[in-house]
Amino acid sequence: MSLVNHRFILASRPVGMPTREAWAYRQEPVRDLQPGEVLIKVLLVSLDPAMRGWMRDQHSYSPPVGIGEVMRALALGKVVSSANPKFQAGKYVSGPLGVQEYCISDGKGLIEVDPRVAPLPKFVSVLGMTGMTAYFGLLETGQPVAGETVVVSAAAGAVGSIVGQIAKIKGCRAVGIAGGAEKCRYLTKDLSFDAAIDYKSEKVTDALRTTCPAGINVYFDNVGGEILEAALANLARGARIVICGAISQYNNTGAIQGPRNYMSLLVKRASMKGMLVFDYAARYPEAIREMAGWMAAGKLKSREDIVDGLETFPETFVKLFGGENFGKLILRVADDESVAAA
Ligand SMILES: NC(=O)c1ccc[n+]([C@@H]2O[C@H](COP(=O)([O-])OP(=O)(O)OC[C@H]3O[C@@H](n4cnc5c(N)ncnc54)[C@H](OP(=O)(O)O)[C@@H]3O)[C@@H](O)[C@H]2O)c1
Repeated sequence: MSLVNHRFILASRPVGMPTREAWAYRQEPVRDLQPGEVLIKVLLVSLDPAMRGWMRDQHSYSPPVGIGEVMRALALGKVVSSANPKFQAGKYVSGPLGVQEYCISDGKGLIEVDPRVAPLPKFVSVLGMTGMTAYFGLLETGQPVAGETVVVSAAAGAVGSIVGQIAKIKGCRAVGIAGGAEKCRYLTKDLSFDAAIDYKSEKVTDALRTTCPAGINVYFDNVGGEILEAALANLARGARIVICGAISQYNNTGAIQGPRNYMSLLVKRASMKGMLVFDYAARYPEAIREMAGWMAAGKLKSREDIVDGLETFPETFVKLFGGENFGKLILRVADDESVAAA
């Protein structure tokens, strides 16, 4: 039976918030496999703020998505047929599969996923790229020490919610900054953060002064802009700032807003360092093992916000920038028994 693929390709480079016109929805037949290739049915697509950066015609840590190319995305799928001895039909894999129903891969960047360890959506979330970002960003770059105060922004999101919980596991105080009362309640009631700040209704600089009276030891920055400035204004001596992302700036039409008060790094003998999760790819299995153990022990929770339908991709993707997602935003492209059961 000949298979048909539906996919979103990049049609233009948007200025500001992307709209549906940035992509074209295409239908095409699935071609035959060449030796070494694998045909994967895409089940769950990870929607990540970084995808906005990949749409820009700008040199970054990876080349931009070309016009006419399938929209790059990490995803999880099931091997349908294989001409690659490393990946057998019926197995689950994650990797850069793209925003489409079927992916033909040469195996590069594919990781086999074991559905006995956790339900499949967890491998796109806490046991996937965003969980790895929280784990290595906090532990390797943030270097938290028990008793210290760790502050994280976009705290109810995929990366932020895991950062705060790992901080607690390591004996730190965790303070989250998130948009809205419901997300803040989730942080303190469900995830045991010590405090939460609603940046939409509170003055963050003042709220940080109250919730972190001895100053911030580690600030894990997911948003940049004014919230980064508020954190810089409340550092403890020797603080570490982890630059993970700057989502408040991703749809700017002008230059990125840098922190005006960066001299507090000098005053507080603090450091600010960027981290990229892909640098830790060789160590993912180690992190997955430890995080799966914390999950089994009830110490680490994750929430997934799953939206159905490949064709909803453009509107679902931009939810990230309005804070409409609650937990890891995932696009469900197809049902699989183990996905449906999750
Ligand atoms: N360095 C790396 O290797 C790496 C890897 C993965 C992710 N990241 C970065 O980590 C950050 C979080 O990504 P994620 O996947 O975990 O997304 P997420 O937190 O699940 O979703 C994005 C959240 O950002 C918040 N947000 C959006 N616009 C904002 C604004 N203007 N000001 C403040 N908050 C805003 C919203 O939460 P509220 O409702 O609370 O506003 C939204 O829910 C992003 O900056 C991303 O680029 C970096």
